Amino acid sequence: MSEKRSKTVPAEELERQKEYAKQVRELMLLRTRNPVPLAHVHTYGCQGNVADGERIKGMLAQMGFEFTEDPQEADFILYNTCAIREHAEDRVFGNVGALKHIKERHPATILGLCGCMMQQPQAAERIRKSFPYVSLVFGTHVVHRLPELLYRVLTCERRVFERPDGDGVVAEGLPVRRDGVWKAWLPIMYGCNNFCSYCIVPYVRGRERSRTVDAILTEAKEIIAAGYKEITLLGQNVNSYGKDLPEPVSFARLLKSIDALPGDFKIRFMTSHPKDATRELIDVIAESRKISHHLHLPVQSGSNRILKAMNRHYTREQYLQLIDYAKKRIPDLSLTSDIIVGFPGEMREDFEETLSLIQEVRYTSLFTFIFSPRQGTPAAEMEDPVPAKVKSAWFSELLQVQEGIAAQRSAAMVGQVVEVLCEEMGKDGLLSGRTDGNVMIEFSGKPELIGHTVKVNVTRARNWILVGEAVAEAE
Ligand code: 5AD
Ligand code: SF4
Repeated sequence: MSEKRSKTVPAEELERQKEYAKQVRELMLLRTRNPVPLAHVHTYGCQGNVADGERIKGMLAQMGFEFTEDPQEADFILYNTCAIREHAEDRVFGNVGALKHIKERHPATILGLCGCMMQQPQAAERIRKSFPYVSLVFGTHVVHRLPELLYRVLTCERRVFERPDGDGVVAEGLPVRRDGVWKAWLPIMYGCNNFCSYCIVPYVRGRERSRTVDAILTEAKEIIAAGYKEITLLGQNVNSYGKDLPEPVSFARLLKSIDALPGDFKIRFMTSHPKDATRELIDVIAESRKISHHLHLPVQSGSNRILKAMNRHYTREQYLQLIDYAKKRIPDLSLTSDIIVGFPGEMREDFEETLSLIQEVRYTSLFTFIFSPRQGTPAAEMEDPVPAKVKSAWFSELLQVQEGIAAQRSAAMVGQVVEVLCEEMGKDGLLSGRTDGNVMIEFSGKPELIGHTVKVNVTRARNWILVGEAVAEAE
């Protein structure tokens, strides 16, 4: 049990980091060419990375930084990178290359890289060799040590590369500077134990480790007190939440506790792994008032042969049974999924099974990806005879089928009154937000509605976006 607890970063370590933060604050004031030190933090990739970025910005604010969207004027530029597909990595290398001229013009600018890509040895090595003007690189397990690492950059001549391997830690009590105005991200666990054969995440994010219920409820209360209207609980596989705690707690129970907190807010969560999503979870959603009727349940493929090769641990039939139960229990449930096209060895018949599955489920929307081999994962070593051109054609076909489904679903919404958290007003003077099922909607109404849950009459469907008019503020 003590081994389990040792994942939490000790309070003394965080105190030590606060001391470093003070020193960095002094040093940066001397170094900056601006009235106050400015940081430019850019996050790539998933919401987990965005949540890390918010803690990084919290620590930077503690070190006296303010923030800028313009890298040209920043004293510190940090890219929080993603490794999920090759495309994400290419973008980072391209953008780091483009920073060279900033460093030439303002040599005191500090350039740093962190996030999943930097946890991969070969990517960090490429930065070391080909981008000598990057002076700070740190991995996913030492985010809480940013003050110390920046202090080292400021006081040593050498570049700082800090990317220890390991199963990962949980750092509680870090300051958070949230990006959203109405919506807040709340990580409930980190890491992944599943080792789907295509996925790099378990290698760069370590093993599953849950935050305690107390820590999560405390943060949820802070979020609600700060006026946020929507909390999205985050984890690679939220359904295995709590299994590693000294006293195990199920995700369904955690959801119930958050649902019971007083206040006017909605709860979303992502991502659910179909092998661990339970009927109990569906029941909790059905019986709650605050949990959105939206379930992101990535299927990845409709073919049992490919699901097996992906190491997903469920069959098409099991997945469809769960969906069937969920639809019966929650008739207005909105379902979304991730799909990978062109997994090694996928044949036309397998792909057609995916097409038939999406036609059966009728998802609201899909996140679709062409398989991208990730060095170090089993799938990267598998025979992959299907040409890229064929995969692209399948990919377009999938998009087309899904567009048809989404269009029909949107058209069926016309005439309904839906509840929407009104988030902002666009340049065209229309308000916008997302329905409970997470569909984008634009509507006419007064600006005072921003930040409120509004009843909107859906008048039209424009592709996958709904259009409507506000009828009343929801009680
Ligand atoms: N290639 C393509 N897509 C991938 N994903 C994860 N790894 C890969 C890969 N190597 C997709 C999966 C996952 C989503 C976040 O990214 O669909 O659910
Ligand atoms: Fe990757 Fe699978 Fe873990 Fe999701 S559950 S992060 S796809 S290994």
